[in-house]
Amino acid sequence: MSDTTTRVREHYNATGLTDRIKATLATIAPEDQPLTVTQLASLDQFHTRGILATTELAEAAGISSSTRVLDVGCGIGGPARYLAATFGCTVTGVDLSVPFIDAATYLTARCGLSDRATFRVGNALHLQLESASFDAIFLQHVSMNIEDRAALYAEAHRLLAPEGRLVIHDLVLRKGDVVYPAPWARDASTSFLLSESDTRTALEQAGFSAAHWQDDTRAALGWFNSILASPPPAGPNLGTVMGPDFPAIIGNLARNIREDRLGVLSAVLTPK
Ligand SMILES: C[S@@+](CC[C@H](N)C(=O)[O-])C[C@H]1O[C@@H](n2cnc3c(N)ncnc32)[C@H](O)[C@@H]1O
Repeated sequence: MSDTTTRVREHYNATGLTDRIKATLATIAPEDQPLTVTQLASLDQFHTRGILATTELAEAAGISSSTRVLDVGCGIGGPARYLAATFGCTVTGVDLSVPFIDAATYLTARCGLSDRATFRVGNALHLQLESASFDAIFLQHVSMNIEDRAALYAEAHRLLAPEGRLVIHDLVLRKGDVVYPAPWARDASTSFLLSESDTRTALEQAGFSAAHWQDDTRAALGWFNSILASPPPAGPNLGTVMGPDFPAIIGNLARNIREDRLGVLSAVLTPK
C-alpha cells in the first residue's frame, strides 16, 4: 500500500466506531429491534445530498433485483443497504477502513440485510475479486482520495461485466484553492481532485463511455443550504462517524461549492 493510501486510511480510521454507533442507536431503538434504511439515512450516506443522490444514481443505472453490485469505498454501507433493501439485489461493499467495514457489517445485520449486502476490507486499486463479476460498480465520493485515478478506473473496468455500468458521484475541481479540513481530507496531501473534463478524459482512457453525465452542483448547493439552515439532526448522524468537528468540516465543503471552488458530478458509464 502506498504512503498516501496509508494516510487516507488513517483519516477514516474511526476508532471505536461500532460502539459509538451502538450508543447513539440506543437513543432511537432497542438493540433487539430491527432498523430500517430510512432510520439510518442521516448516519450512513457519506456524500453530498445523502440518500437522495443514491436513489437517483440507482435509477439512472437501472438497478434491479438481478444486478450484482459492487460498492467501492462503501463507507459504513448506507448506499449498499439502500440498494439491497430497495431492489433486492446483492451488493458487495469494499473499503480501506477496518472500523467502517465493522460498522457496515453490524448495521447490515441490524437491518436484516446480511444475506444480500456483505462487506470486506480492500484497496480500490487492487481488489481480490473475480474479473467481469459485477453488473454495476458504485464509486460515490471516493475518487478524490485516490492518487492513481488511471489504476482506479482500470480496476473498475476489469471487474465490470461487458454490459455493466460504472456509477460515479464525485466532487470535481472548479476554480480550486480548496478550503480544508474537508470531509475526505484534513489537508491537500490526501486530496486528489480532478476537474470535470479531466475526470471524463481519465474515464475514457480507461475504456469507458458516458451513458449519462450530469452536473449536480446546483442541486448540491440547494441541499447544503437547507441542511445548514437547521441544527444537525438529533440522534445518529455523520458526526458519530467522523467526530465532533464534522459540522464545521461539512460547512467547509458547502463553502467550497458555494464559492465555485468545487462542483459535483454524477455519471453512469459503460465499458466501450
Ligand atoms: C466520503 S466516504 C464515502 C463512503 C460511501 N461511498 C458513501 O457514499 O457513503 C469515502 C470512502 O472511501 C474510502 N476509500 C478511500 N480510498 C480508498 C481506497 N483506496 N480503497 C477503498 N476505499 C477507499 C474511505 O475509506 C471512505 O470510506
